[in-house]
Amino acid sequence: MRILSGIQPSGRLHLGNYFGMMRPAIELQEKGEAFYFIADYHALTSIQSPADLRVFSREVALDLLASGLDPGRAVLFRQSDVPEVTELSWILSTVTPMGLLQRCHSYKDKVARGLAASHGLFAYPVLMAADILIYDSDLVPVGRDQKQHVEVARDIAIKFNEIYGQALKLPEAEIRDSVAVVPGLDGQKMSKSYGNGIFLSEPEGSFRKKVMGIKTDSTPVEAPKSIEGSLILQLYRLVGTPAECRAMEASFQAGGTGYGEYKKELFRALWGHFANYRRRRAELEASPGRVEAVLEEGAMKARAAARVVLGRVRKAVGLC
Ligand code: TYM
Repeated sequence: MRILSGIQPSGRLHLGNYFGMMRPAIELQEKGEAFYFIADYHALTSIQSPADLRVFSREVALDLLASGLDPGRAVLFRQSDVPEVTELSWILSTVTPMGLLQRCHSYKDKVARGLAASHGLFAYPVLMAADILIYDSDLVPVGRDQKQHVEVARDIAIKFNEIYGQALKLPEAEIRDSVAVVPGLDGQKMSKSYGNGIFLSEPEGSFRKKVMGIKTDSTPVEAPKSIEGSLILQLYRLVGTPAECRAMEASFQAGGTGYGEYKKELFRALWGHFANYRRRRAELEASPGRVEAVLEEGAMKARAAARVVLGRVRKAVGLC
């Protein structure tokens, strides 16, 4: 089974990226042949500072490795180290109906938030389809915001296969309900661009400050508190054991404890969860050549796999 996913280096990675995609993807590396990449071509639709793109790309690699991506099991690479994907993207664009792209809400959302309505932003799902299809991917672990894009990739593959024969494998999205949309500090989806994130590489002081700053209602200390829609509980459930979560819920319902105490416990649990991440990240930062070496090897392996599918596609359409 081939598993594939990507992350844009368009900012530092946050808990939403981690719980929504990185943790499930890292678990899946045990279950098949995994390909995980830094979507730097995609990030060009929003980042136009070369220095930032370089820094964020390295951050994504560091964060994935520090979170437990094992380069002995999974292939980690930069999207742009496999330029074949842009050729496939062009070929796919010739069979992609305009209406399919016009229906994509991510494009409309990004333009509504002020991103320039470039052709790259509009055609983003076609490149994403090429990312997925060029590795014959079976499974694509993503957060819910990417569901439509994976469906578009499937639709494009179906269209291509109808015209040219069965050259492309149909992928499935893998979305875990419990972490499909990790909320940010304001209760909206946590996002690199909404200013509501807690970053994986957040220093302890600001991590604590962000958690302690979570807005709560004005229920008095002694009164029972609503567990429905509580952001503290939603975040706690990401890391607490079932027994710990039940205990916090029971304590909410019993009353007698202030929100400040729950936030302290939430901080302790979240910060503790990332202890291994911090240790591994410090080790990686101390050996700067390591990340480059992993990416170079990943590029070679990914490129070899991509060439197989691109060769099949070129033949199917009559380019060779
Ligand atoms: P990106 O960089 O926006 O996000 C990376 C992954 O993190 C997930 N995610 C979340 N999950 C739950 N809750 C949240 N608050 C949250 N925020 C982000 C995203 O769903 C995603 O899985 N287009 C993709 C990158 C990409 C890609 C691909 C993914 C390019 N080509 C091919 C899969 C396959 C993106 O922008 O993800």
